[in-house]
Amino acid sequence: MTEPTLSVRDVIKELPLGSERISILGGVSFDLQAGEMVALMGPSGSGKSTLLGIVAGLDRPTSGDVILDGLEISRLPERRLAAFRASHVGMVFQAYNLIPTLTALENVQLPLFVTNHNGHHAEHAQHVLETVGLGHRLHHRPSQLSGGEQQRVAVARALVSAPPLLIADEPTGNLDSESGAALMELLSSLRAELGLTILLATHNDAVAARANRVLRLRDGKLAGP
Ligand SMILES: Nc1ncnc2c1ncn2[C@@H]1O[C@H](COP(=O)(O)OP(=O)(O)O)[C@@H](O)[C@H]1O
Ligand SMILES: [Mg+2]
Repeated sequence: MTEPTLSVRDVIKELPLGSERISILGGVSFDLQAGEMVALMGPSGSGKSTLLGIVAGLDRPTSGDVILDGLEISRLPERRLAAFRASHVGMVFQAYNLIPTLTALENVQLPLFVTNHNGHHAEHAQHVLETVGLGHRLHHRPSQLSGGEQQRVAVARALVSAPPLLIADEPTGNLDSESGAALMELLSSLRAELGLTILLATHNDAVAARANRVLRLRDGKLAGP
C-alpha cells in the first residue's frame, strides 16, 4: 500500500468541565489513502464534528498526531497551520455557511484572495462552479438558490484552491433525499475525476453506502473493523 494521505494517530481530546476534564475523543487512529471516500458514522454527540475539526486543523488534539500529506499538522504553529489548511483542506458544513450578500461566483472566489493574490479569480471560480453543475447560477445569491444548489456552491468554494482533502460535516443533513443523493453523486464524481480524498460525517445509511469505507464512532472511540 502507498503512504496514506492522512494519518490520525491516538488522538485524544479532553475539555475542562469545572474542575474535571471530560473525554471527547478517547484515542482515535485511522488512515485514509489518496482518492478514498470514507464515511464517519456515529450517534449525535459521539465526537464526529470534533474529530473532523481536528483533522482539518481547526482544532488541536489534547494528544496524538494528525499527519496530512507528510506534515504533522497537529504541531504546526498557528500561522503555518492556517496557510496549510487553506491550500490542503476544503470544508463543507451542514448549514452551507455561504455569505448571504455575495453571489455564488463571489462566494467561490473568496478563498482565492487568501491563498493566491494574483491570477484570474473570477474565471477560475466560474470554472469550478461549472464543474459542480452551476454554470447557470453564477450571479445568484444564496437566498435565490435551492438548498442543494447552495451546498454545491459550498463544495465549489471548498475546492477552488484545489485541496487534496475534502472534509464534509453532515453535508446532506439539511437536504431532502433527492438533493442529498445528487450531492453524493457529485462528490463521487469529483473523487473519481480529481482523485480527491473525502472524509464525511453522516447519520444517513444511504449516504454512507456511497463511501468506499465506513468508520464508526461511539463515545469518542472507533469501533473495530
Ligand atoms: N466546546 C465544547 N465544550 C464542551 N463540550 C463539547 C464542546 N464541543 C463538543 N462537546 C461535547 O463533545 C461531544 C462530542 O460532540 P461532537 O463532536 O459535536 O459530536 P457529533 O458531531 O458526533 O454530534 C458531545 O458530548 C458534546 O457535547
Ligand atoms: Mg456533529
